[in-house]
Amino acid sequence: MRVRRNVIVIGMGAGNPDYVTIQAVKALNLASVFFIPDKGGGKEQLARLRRDICERFIENRDYRMVTFDSPVRPKPGGDYRKGIKAWRGEVERVYERLLADELGEDEYGAFLVWGDPSLYDGTLRILESIRAKGRMELEYDVVPGITSVQALAARHKVPLNRIGEAVTITTGRRLSQGFPEDAGSVVVMLDGNAAFTKVEDDIYIHWGAYVGTPDEILVSGNLEDVAGEIERLKEAAQKNHGWIMDTYLLTRPESKED
Ligand SMILES: C[S@@+](CC[C@H](N)C(=O)[O-])C[C@H]1O[C@@H](n2cnc3c(N)ncnc32)[C@H](O)[C@@H]1O
Repeated sequence: MRVRRNVIVIGMGAGNPDYVTIQAVKALNLASVFFIPDKGGGKEQLARLRRDICERFIENRDYRMVTFDSPVRPKPGGDYRKGIKAWRGEVERVYERLLADELGEDEYGAFLVWGDPSLYDGTLRILESIRAKGRMELEYDVVPGITSVQALAARHKVPLNRIGEAVTITTGRRLSQGFPEDAGSVVVMLDGNAAFTKVEDDIYIHWGAYVGTPDEILVSGNLEDVAGEIERLKEAAQKNHGWIMDTYLLTRPESKED
């Protein structure tokens, strides 16, 4: 007979415990087992925030933390696609084992996802793939969280879109291939290489690192004026913390008729 498992994927907000929603608090109090990825590479701070959130918001102390080694995503280069496929398989096996061995039939397990699970996060794909394989009867729900994109916009006090226009959310790797032609504004995430330094148009930038945390750094201005400063800050912060998470909004000037 197949085992039955219940999981809640909880968006925990992007760095500030005050971003945790009331719906997330209810879900935290429903769960008995929390699966905490240990990503290494100086990111212990992220695991700590997950623990702090549990300690602060869970009233019933009767829960377990299960830490697991999260397989490291391969770096671009070589046979990247093959590498990614193998990595995904490995992650799925780890999750499936956790759900089978560490969770009971009558319990809820929870994954605390940074920001919101809908944005550059693999948890939902992994769970869906495990469910589809059918080796266990897996039910899961999703609780939305405050993304780093919302946090960035709030801290800079700006809207993301130009009036009546679309917003593109993309990665640093894609931005380095050029500013999307039809986009008025672009949000850039996962940028390890300061791709904004390659953008040449007349663009305004709102940049933020560690947004919502005590280490937050915010800079805004015309890209050509502030790109060098952001690059220096980014490098220094990376050295200092051992890791960095930064996001930025690039906006073309709004025309006078808008
Ligand atoms: C793997 S993605 C996860 C995004 C997350 N699911 C969300 O909703 O924000 C990680 C990227 O999110 C952005 N990010 C996450 N938290 C951030 C923060 N507190 N400040 C700035 N950028 C952040 C960075 O671009 C980072 O490279």
